Amino acid sequence: MTGFSADWLSLREPADLRARNADLGARVAGHLAGETPLRIVDLGAGTGANLRASALLFPQDQHWHLLDHAPDLIAEARRQLVQWADSARTVADGLELVRDGRRITVSFVLTDLSRSLAGVSSVVPHLVTASAFFDLVSPLFIDALARETAAAGAAFFTVLSCDGRDFWTPAHPGDGAIAAGFRADQARDKGFGPAVGHAATDHLERAFRLAGYATDRAASPWKLGPQDAGLVAMLASGTAAAAVASGTVTAPEAQDWVQARAGATCEIGHCDLFAWPG
Ligand SMILES: C[S@@+](CC[C@H](N)C(=O)[O-])C[C@H]1O[C@@H](n2cnc3c(N)ncnc32)[C@H](O)[C@@H]1O
Repeated sequence: MTGFSADWLSLREPADLRARNADLGARVAGHLAGETPLRIVDLGAGTGANLRASALLFPQDQHWHLLDHAPDLIAEARRQLVQWADSARTVADGLELVRDGRRITVSFVLTDLSRSLAGVSSVVPHLVTASAFFDLVSPLFIDALARETAAAGAAFFTVLSCDGRDFWTPAHPGDGAIAAGFRADQARDKGFGPAVGHAATDHLERAFRLAGYATDRAASPWKLGPQDAGLVAMLASGTAAAAVASGTVTAPEAQDWVQARAGATCEIGHCDLFAWPG
């Protein structure tokens, strides 16, 4: 079960945008500069944040295939992308957008990626990408995806995979137990089998190297402060609930920790990874 709400994805989108590693994004853009139209598959696309964050780095003509299993998020992606574009036209399975001189065709694909990667291979993409997705999946899924991506000869770029590091200020005696519970929850089955969690980038890097790819990775931490109060509050309550579910803290201990997080700042570790046929 994943159950991401459009509200949560909207709340995190500005922090994600700030956190993405700009140098690595520029390297990906340089690698893809000659491809036109550029065919891109976005895994677990949610409301389309990855497209909004990276389309302006890429060449003028792009065709994005947004894959997700949640119909409500796909409907919200359509709505938000129309708002984001300078102009938008509905076409058979999606949209044709113009934004800052880019012509961006979008196909929405309702698919359960835990069952099939046909939505990836059928596109013969130049780029397979994802944002805030890979900590949910299993090592076996990553291995299969690396093989599928290599068969297409596509590049691979994923951003904002959790790396298991989190630091809250001010410190609280419950920090260690909460963090341990949260990490245990990250390994829970999210529909793909036991999840790779904060080891996602290490596993991706190994799988792509085995497939003959070169790789480069870079940190993309959330640095959240008073301007992110809404996100910090939701993050704190979600983290605490996960720790209670994992059994490392009791509900009253979690409640105490959440209350102490009002006005707190935090750094939550993420990693971005670029892999290309070597
Ligand atoms: C944390 S959200 C990230 C959404 C988006 N990429 C972003 O950065 O805002 C994870 C996404 O993966 C999707 N997802 C989870 N399991 C999936 C599955 N089995 N098949 C397809 N999509 C899935 C969820 O619906 C959700 O949209």
